[in-house]
Amino acid sequence: MHLVALGAEHFRNLATFRLAPHRRFNILEGKNGQGKTNLLEAVFLLSAFRSFRDARNRELVSWSEEATTVYGEIVRRDIARTVEVTVSAKGKRVALDGKNITRLPDELAHLNVVLFGPDDLSLTKAGPQLRRRFIDRAAYAVWPDYVTGLRRYAEALKNRNELLRQAAAGGLDVGVIQAFEHALVQHGARVVQRRLQFLKSFQPHFDRVFDHITAGALKGGIAYRGFKGLSKDADLAALEAGYAQALDEARATDMRRGFTSVGPHSDDLLFHINKRSARVYASQGQHRAFVLALKIAELHRIHEAIGVYPVFLLDDVSSELDEERNAQLMSYLDQAGGQVFITTTDRRFIHVASDARVYRVADGVISAE
Ligand SMILES: Nc1ncnc2c1ncn2[C@@H]1O[C@H](COP(=O)(O)OP(=O)(O)OP(=O)(O)O)[C@@H](O)[C@H]1O
Ligand SMILES: [Mg+2]
Repeated sequence: MHLVALGAEHFRNLATFRLAPHRRFNILEGKNGQGKTNLLEAVFLLSAFRSFRDARNRELVSWSEEATTVYGEIVRRDIARTVEVTVSAKGKRVALDGKNITRLPDELAHLNVVLFGPDDLSLTKAGPQLRRRFIDRAAYAVWPDYVTGLRRYAEALKNRNELLRQAAAGGLDVGVIQAFEHALVQHGARVVQRRLQFLKSFQPHFDRVFDHITAGALKGGIAYRGFKGLSKDADLAALEAGYAQALDEARATDMRRGFTSVGPHSDDLLFHINKRSARVYASQGQHRAFVLALKIAELHRIHEAIGVYPVFLLDDVSSELDEERNAQLMSYLDQAGGQVFITTTDRRFIHVASDARVYRVADGVISAE
């Protein structure tokens, strides 16, 4: 799939633009602070209808303006559709092929993107939140309705946490909290099941890529860490029973502390190299190899699910990856096909054999060369 048109008005610092991106490589070159990442953020918005920087609506709008509109024309298996997202402090509006839609239907995931940015380079080192975000985004690309399950879980979690806060502040019957746990267990178990399913289908891709990147020298592994006693082969009923028991055991503590301590919102992915924790033992180069393999495997997995390559957004990683990993990434992208947007402060960092179009980004103005 690829964008044949991309435009925006009043988006962050970007001057109104309209581009016809190249089918393969689009290199966005510019000095620091000129608007390169903003441009990737605009593309991401067309896919996920929110920012990858977790920005508030009004932050996306140029400072002197009231609203921003981002526009894209996306070709997916020869079918072209337009997506237009308008954002203001009041909220968001999405139009598909010119028609406003009120609820985001699952099939709206017309544009799939995979983002590889500086944050991802700490996937193996940082706290669990980044890893949950990684698996959730990837699973969403594979199963668009996954996001609905996540939302339902978040809702149920918010309800229980609200009651726990009341309990912590003094006086709330435990029965009230228990009554709210049914929904949490149901939606939580479903989220865990999807994540386990995703990992199972992801692992062969990851193994192959990691093996290739490390020339067979290392073996990587990914495990899911959830509630106590969680088995990766558990079916939905077993996951529900296990999660219900974990909540039961945590309830007294949760009531004292005022929040829910177990569940998919606090689960983690454990990354291993040769069976040892990557976070604890991996070298810098091994961390980079692991992250690179995760991202390339993500592209493969999504390709397997939807039959086409997602659009790949590469934010300034060339300057962070070492020379060898960089070369591996570029050669992979050269071979894989698919549309790529790469930001860089200097195009000489980017060595691709395929055709590329270079855009200069300077003080919010994007110009094609
Ligand atoms: N809502 C907004 N309105 C106007 N300008 C904004 C808005 N939000 C961010 N900016 C400006 O956009 C610029 C940052 O753009 P961006 O993050 O895309 O830079 P970049 O080209 O990726 O730089 P780097 O190479 O340092 O990552 C900053 O100067 C910032 O002040
Ligand atoms: Mg940037």
